[in-house]
Amino acid sequence: MSKEAEIILDGKSYKFPVVEGSEGEKAIDISNLRAQSGYITLDTGYKNTGATQSSITFLDGELGILHYRGYPIEQLAEKSNFLEVAYLLIYKELPTKEQLSTFSERITKHTNLHEDFKKIFDGFPSSAHPMGVLSSLVSSLTAFYPGSIDDTAGDDELDLTIVRLLAKMPTIAAWSYKNSKGQPLMYPKNDLDYCSNFLYMMFGMPNQEYKVDPLVAEALNVLLILHADHEQNCSTSTVRIVGSAHASLYSSVAAGINALWGPLHGGANQEVIEMLEQIKKDGGDVQKFVNKAKDKNDSFRLMGFGHRVYKNFDPRAKIIKKACDSILSKLGVKDPVLDIAKNLEETALKDPYFIERKLYPNVDFYSGIIYKALGLKPELFTVMFALGRLPGWIAQWKEMREAGEPIGRPRQVYVGSNKRDYVPIEKRK
Ligand code: SDX
Repeated sequence: MSKEAEIILDGKSYKFPVVEGSEGEKAIDISNLRAQSGYITLDTGYKNTGATQSSITFLDGELGILHYRGYPIEQLAEKSNFLEVAYLLIYKELPTKEQLSTFSERITKHTNLHEDFKKIFDGFPSSAHPMGVLSSLVSSLTAFYPGSIDDTAGDDELDLTIVRLLAKMPTIAAWSYKNSKGQPLMYPKNDLDYCSNFLYMMFGMPNQEYKVDPLVAEALNVLLILHADHEQNCSTSTVRIVGSAHASLYSSVAAGINALWGPLHGGANQEVIEMLEQIKKDGGDVQKFVNKAKDKNDSFRLMGFGHRVYKNFDPRAKIIKKACDSILSKLGVKDPVLDIAKNLEETALKDPYFIERKLYPNVDFYSGIIYKALGLKPELFTVMFALGRLPGWIAQWKEMREAGEPIGRPRQVYVGSNKRDYVPIEKRK
């Protein structure tokens, strides 16, 4: 007999089905709560509320577990590549050799941008933050590919939209970087793989030989895999709710980019490196900054620490921390902020304030150190997060639409003024 939950309201008993997931997570299905009882639930920030049932990513915050379609993130980071993980997330299974080469070839063929994009780039001041440019240009893809807006278009049109998005976002990111530096735009090269092509467009220069360092391309590949999906986080929930209105995939992802930009979310990776540089400039006294983070009267927070779900080490942070050491030493980069970061982590993890609140380093704590070593400036770190998260956003949007989920429209509890009559301006005090 399936389990039930009982709620007693105003002396009346209401029963609700219990849903149990494939990894043992349990939820009370309250879909009929208001119809039966007139009550709704209230859960600001959705800390206890499941928005959907999903088969894409499983994470266990207490045990620090992260699986994409059942595959442990540690195995995918070590053995897979980003386009293979993108295929897995979006099309549910690891691709065969032939499926992967077809998928990769299709993406390669769509990496170019319409020449009119340059007019949009020219409209931005060079000081524009790349995340603002990225979200604007991803949204403008609807103008160049109006078929993507057609809600009744079939799978072929959606697959083409998916391929265009995966193919063109790196080019948009690289061109916005070049534009901000006042450097010539580099066109994609079809003989380079996904990560190498991005690095070429970012750091190559016309009429100059630019050889992509395979170590840098491999490091980028791992970082993109680690960021590829993370179930119902803020930006993914944004993509899903915008998509639930049957807005196009481009518009939904543009909204997700803007949500990710927030300093409490993906924007934290830029904040972390700025925080570490501030600690370095201040003399490297990490205890001083741990104390500031604990002080309720001080707005300072330890950026890259804490997580809504992980109450243990973020498994991605563990992998990135390890990668930091190997990549920086192979690149011959000595960055004092890495030692400051390690020292900060060690000090915080011994402090009761952090222990009691189960605050551990998250994915953003070490990632910026690698991005910096790869030659990227801090404003681009969240763009890298968006490039990594793109397949997850696509997969989640596609799952929501395939499930025929209704438009997302939460309820509220009204706490404002009761009914009152209009007061003419001359009578207002
Ligand atoms: C990402 O959701 C995802 O999956 C996100 C993500 C993904 O892959 O999509 O993992 C990516 O966004 C990672 C998080 C990056 N953000 C940061 O590193 C910013 C710093 N972290 C915090 O702002 C905070 O930890 C959040 C936003 C990440 C989580 O906030 P919650 O769950 O709302 O928790 P909270 O703010 O209520 O904190 C609980 C307590 C509070 O103290 P008390 O009121 O109980 O005394 O912990 C404290 C907070 O003050 N706290 C911190 C802290 N984070 C939480 N105190 C100091 N420094 C911090 N970083």
